[in-house]
Amino acid sequence: MLTSILLSSILALPALAASPDDWRTRSIYQLVTDRFATPDGSSPTCNTEDRRYCGGNYKGIINKLDYIQNMGFDAIWISPVVANVEGNTSLGEAFHGYWTQDINKLNDHFGSTDDLKSLSDALHKRNMYLMVDVVVNHMAATSNPPNFGSFAPFNQQSNFHPECFIQASDYDNNQTAVEQCWLGDENLPLADMNTEDQNVISTWNTWIGDLVKNYTIDGVRIDTVKHVRKDFWPDFAKAAGVYTVGEVLHNDTNYVAPYTQALSAALDYPAYFFLTAGFQTSNGNLSNFASVIQAGQGAYNNGEHYMGSFLENHDNPRFQSLTQDQALVKNAMTWPFIQDGIPILYYGQEQGYAGGNDPANREALWLSGYGEDKPLVQHVKTLNAARKAAAAAKSDFHTSSLQFLVSTQNNLAISKPPMLTLLTNEGSTSTPQWSVPNAGFSANEEVVDVLTCTKINADANGGVTVKGSGGNPQVLMPTSALPKGGTVCPDLATGAQSSSARSLAVQVLGTSLAAVLTLAIAFS
Ligand SMILES: *[C@@H]1O[C@H](CO)[C@@H](O)[C@H](O)[C@H]1NC(C)=O
Ligand SMILES: *[C@@H]1O[C@H](CO)[C@@H](O)[C@H](O)[C@H]1NC(C)=O
Ligand SMILES: *[C@@H]1O[C@H](CO)[C@@H](O)[C@H](O)[C@H]1NC(C)=O
Ligand SMILES: *[C@@H]1O[C@H](CO)[C@@H](O)[C@H](O)[C@H]1NC(C)=O
Ligand SMILES: *[C@@H]1O[C@H](CO)[C@@H](O)[C@H](O)[C@H]1NC(C)=O
Repeated sequence: MLTSILLSSILALPALAASPDDWRTRSIYQLVTDRFATPDGSSPTCNTEDRRYCGGNYKGIINKLDYIQNMGFDAIWISPVVANVEGNTSLGEAFHGYWTQDINKLNDHFGSTDDLKSLSDALHKRNMYLMVDVVVNHMAATSNPPNFGSFAPFNQQSNFHPECFIQASDYDNNQTAVEQCWLGDENLPLADMNTEDQNVISTWNTWIGDLVKNYTIDGVRIDTVKHVRKDFWPDFAKAAGVYTVGEVLHNDTNYVAPYTQALSAALDYPAYFFLTAGFQTSNGNLSNFASVIQAGQGAYNNGEHYMGSFLENHDNPRFQSLTQDQALVKNAMTWPFIQDGIPILYYGQEQGYAGGNDPANREALWLSGYGEDKPLVQHVKTLNAARKAAAAAKSDFHTSSLQFLVSTQNNLAISKPPMLTLLTNEGSTSTPQWSVPNAGFSANEEVVDVLTCTKINADANGGVTVKGSGGNPQVLMPTSALPKGGTVCPDLATGAQSSSARSLAVQVLGTSLAAVLTLAIAFS
């Protein structure tokens, strides 16, 4: 009786707020809500240059969760959800969701409040997380001066900083202007919130707490974070009560570092700049890239842990607009899945999309046909599965920090036990070679490249010398770290159990151990 009351009250509890530690084991699929999937599965034309709504929405996402989950993602990041400027502007329609008008209404192009709740429920039923994008820095107007009365609830001019547009030179010289002047232009001013005003502050903090609760949101991605004073953010993050990751668009780890104190973490923009520069041609410098990662490990609040790691997003040209060499693409795509932070994949990368700068990089995914047999879909699937297997095989996989064992202009060997990742920017006509004397494997251990299921043996010192082909990356793991019955190189895997079977077994064992201990204490 008591047990059943206890049990039913536990089952009735809402989902627990997801902390940074809950997120660190996750893998995120970022999508543009308007461009991911239509509710009826239709494939309307969607010319990115037109910058118009194309018809994707929450119901469409719900219908396509299998596609995302089949690749091994267990979280999605969707576009901002609130009501935006309506109609055509000098930069088209607000299909991306970043032009807020009313923070207490939803953007009904994407669905109703019930639809957003259904998406949240559908995700949670699959043990997946929902991350919502939010814009706090500004509201969008279609005239200058803005009609402040059209904003809700911030309908007073005093809710905003006085108008002045940020100049290009301010970014390096005047942080006050970056924080207090306005983004946008005369045609589409982005009215900058007065985030020093007590009413504005408390309205935002109440709002984010309510938004998270109303839709059972697990994580918040925050737009234009460097445009708001740093000490605004800790209270906002606390009010959100879940993992918060900020967009701090900058290539310098020292500039980004303080924001990792103010929020759970930041999107890893410094890594992004050097990742794309390092891998887009064999003239890139991977040693430089490694230095930036090491700088981040030292500078950020939790090292690179909790940082959002990405190769593409909606604000930057897709990697395949920089190079079409599939070996380079595969190398660069491998990075987010083998490093200390949280992997993020921008929708469409897996389908080989190659759009350049915004708006070209916001293609409709339905035009791809969602094929799951494409090479990059398989690549992502393997990387997600290998990451899960690594964490199941070694309990400190997520908490330990990676090391560069080799870092030259053209080659990297990255150790994050039980993984050793070998990357190169030599390109698809090359035959890369990596010599890693102390790779951290056991003497003569049987090791497999999970991307090709090619087996090699470590030498007597646990080192490896590997000759690659076609400029491809390799992710080496001991065969004993791959679960039997799993999806990663099943014919070679010698790990005892699949990861889910194992974690269940550990729980059961833990429970019986606790019971035995309780008995032992009771009888001692
Ligand atoms: C939207 O407005 C812009 C600028 O006024 C104009 O160039 C464009 O053709 C308009 N687009 C549509 C679809 O009306
Ligand atoms: C920085 O920008 C602010 C806002 O525009 C301005 O008031 C201030 O004079 C600028 N400071 C410098 C040193 O230029
Ligand atoms: C949350 O729900 C309450 C109750 O329906 C509503 O008053 C409030 O405006 C909602 N807030 C947000 C941000 O959705
Ligand atoms: C970093 O960005 C600044 C502009 O803010 C630019 O001047 C500089 O060249 C960039 N550094 C690198 C290494 O890309
Ligand atoms: C590559 O970067 C490293 C580390 O930053 C530097 O020492 C080296 O000179 C660079 N190599 C080339 C060819 O630019």
